[in-house]
Parts: sequence; structure tokens; C-alpha cells
Amino acid sequence: MSSFAELDPPPRLLMGPGPVGVDPRVLRALSMPMLGQFDPAFTAYMNETMELLRQIYRTKNQWSLLIDGTARAGVEALLVSMISPGDKVLVPIFGRFGHLLTEISARCGAEVIPIEREWGTVFTPDEIEDAIKKHAPRMVAIVHGDTSTTMAQPLADIGAICSARDILLYSDATATLGGIAIETDAWHVDAFSSGLQKCLSGPPGSSPITFNDKVAALINARKHLEAGIKPQGFVDGNGPRIPSNYFDLAMVMDYWGPGRLNHHTEATSMLYAAREAVRIAVAEGDARFVRHRQASDALCAGLQAMGLALFGDLTHKMPNVTGVVIPRGVDADGVRKMMLDDFGIEIGTSFGPLHGKIWRIGTMGYVCRKESVLICLGALEACLRRFGYVAPAGAGVDAALASYSRA
Ligand SMILES: Cc1ncc(COP(=O)(O)O)c(C=O)c1O
Repeated sequence: MSSFAELDPPPRLLMGPGPVGVDPRVLRALSMPMLGQFDPAFTAYMNETMELLRQIYRTKNQWSLLIDGTARAGVEALLVSMISPGDKVLVPIFGRFGHLLTEISARCGAEVIPIEREWGTVFTPDEIEDAIKKHAPRMVAIVHGDTSTTMAQPLADIGAICSARDILLYSDATATLGGIAIETDAWHVDAFSSGLQKCLSGPPGSSPITFNDKVAALINARKHLEAGIKPQGFVDGNGPRIPSNYFDLAMVMDYWGPGRLNHHTEATSMLYAAREAVRIAVAEGDARFVRHRQASDALCAGLQAMGLALFGDLTHKMPNVTGVVIPRGVDADGVRKMMLDDFGIEIGTSFGPLHGKIWRIGTMGYVCRKESVLICLGALEACLRRFGYVAPAGAGVDAALASYSRA
């Protein structure tokens, strides 16, 4: 018989692109006692979570709720419920997660129209409008912040263009919710999805989503209830049945709505965690976005003072993740390993065309603090020196401190 030691994860400073360190208040929420899923105390927490999500997404959308699963579950729930087979879906791609949207849309039976931009850039509104004029899609699906490239795509103009033509707009805010102000209603975004493990500083495993009444109506027209829970006299919608049970938002709405028609069993502890993570973010308000911006400015100043180049179009860089060009000749994995082994700091690698070219350093949520930025820069200087890249001694930390004192 094998016996394993009690779990005792090594302490880490998680400064990659997510997951990041979980706020201790969220960890406490995770240890709260179980409640039955229809216990009035629990359904009250569900309703409070909906209200908190409306606040963080800056929306009046009634349908602001959690999908149980990681951020990808929220993406998939919205796409599989919104896209009917044969729908034309325009997907502007500026990084890895745009490719994910094309892949999921195609699995939903969409006629996908991908348009691509070089990684490290974002689309102009005119480029999107031209593609819309050319292809007349029913929906645009676009990532808000593509973690793979560190870029944030401005959405306000794209939202106005889509809404003027009655085209649905879905966006993936996994990397941005809680780190950048998101204006769902003002930007005319019909549906957003996100995750907990980045700027909200919760564990991965719950996906906050929001969608408006227009989306709810089209989804409800596709409602086909499970036989075992169908109320007498219920007539199925005449739209095509949503080809997933777990991610069928028509049934999920019935579960989160006043009818409380059973679907899945809500992931109790993850709901506690999401409620607490979003409650903390909402209470911090705009100061949270300032905190992310200041950390990004300080980190960038420090990296540049060390002679390192930053990746991509910096006017569109997300404040919560920064791409650093790996200096020529430096063993990229060796540096990351030394950061982890000797300093307990995790920084991120990259995918696809950026693999081996940039590291990604996250300053997200609970980890987005002055001391994290300073410790990371000091450690990086030491690791780079060990691998043959000698930055001016102390320059990174000094520049970051100066940036903070200017802020
Ligand atoms: C922008 C974006 N979308 C979707 C995902 C997928 O999230 P998850 O791994 O939580 O399913 C990620 C993960 O990093 C992401 O950064």
C-alpha cells in the first residue's frame, strides 16, 4: 500500500499569465460548509453572485451567472448556445485565443470567417467594419485581452459597428475582467465570458458570464427540456436544439432563474469562491484598475532599464501581463527554471509563433503589488546574470521604484 504525504504545495509567487496567487479571503470562502443547492441560503448566494457580476461587468443584464468549469467552459457555453449550424461567424484573430474561438465556433457548426493580424497588434475598427461589409456575418466573436500576446483589443467601436447592423458581438474577457474596466452595456457587447484565475485572483474552475435579453431570447427559442424535468404542457422551442446538455444556457437560465428548475448541481465551493473574488474586486472599484496600471508601468520601466525589449504594440498592452523579448543567446527555459527553483517565482513561457521569443510576466489581481514587481525584477536580474546577460546592477528595481514614486 502506498501512502502519500499530506498536500503541502511549495510557496510560490505566481507571476505568469494565470493562474495567479489566490486572495486569502477567497481561500477562506472555499472552506465554508456545504449547503444544499436549493437551500434558500444558497440560492440567495446565487442571486448575490448575479448582482456582483452585473456590477463587475457594468451591465444591467439579468443573465449574469457562473458556468461551472474553467474559462473555456464559459466560452463554449456561450458559443454553443448562440451559434446555430450554418451561422456565419466572423472571428478576428490576433493571438492564440482567437484561434480557440474559430475552433469552438466551427465545432458548433458555424461557417467561420477568420481574419488575422500579426501577434502583438490589434484590429482597427475599420478592418472589422470592412470584413463585416464583405462577409455579412450573423455574429462577431473576438477576444478582449489575448493573454498569448498581452494585447487588449478595444471593443467600443466594434460594439457600435455591430449593434448598428444588428450583428451579435461575443467577447472573451478571461484575461481582462477585474484588471481593466469592462463596460458591457456601453460598448454594446451582447455576451462576455471570463475566468476566475487571472485578475480576479480566484482558483480556476468557475467562469463568470453575462449576456443580454437579445441573446437570451435567441437561446430560449432553442429550448428543449430534458424529459425527466419537463413541466406538464411545456412546448419545446422551434429553433435547433443546442447540441450540448451541460452548456445549454436555456436550461442553465431556468436553473439560475426564479423557477430553479434543476440542471447540474451548482459547484458550491466554487460559487463561494467566485462570489468572494468578485465581491473583493467590486469593493476595490476603480482603484483596482489604477493598481494594475501602476504595476505595469513600474514593471515595464524596470525591464527597459535592464536593457530588455518589451513585446508588441505597447499602446494596446494589457496592464496585467507584459511580454519581454528574451535576449539573444539566453537559455529561456534555464532562466525560468532558476526563477522558480531559487526564488520561488513563476513567470510564463509563450505559444505558437512567440514560443522561445518572449516571456510573459503577469501582475494580476492579488499578486499585482509593488513588492511583487520589485522582487521579480531583482530576481530576474540575478538569473539573467547567471545565464550571461548582465544588466546594469540594480537598474530594474531602481526604475520600478522611481515609477511608483511618480505615480
Ligand atoms: C484569453 C483566454 N481565453 C480562454 C482561456 C482558457 O481558459 P481556461 O484554461 O481557464 O479554460 C485562457 C487561458 O489562459 C485565456 O487566457
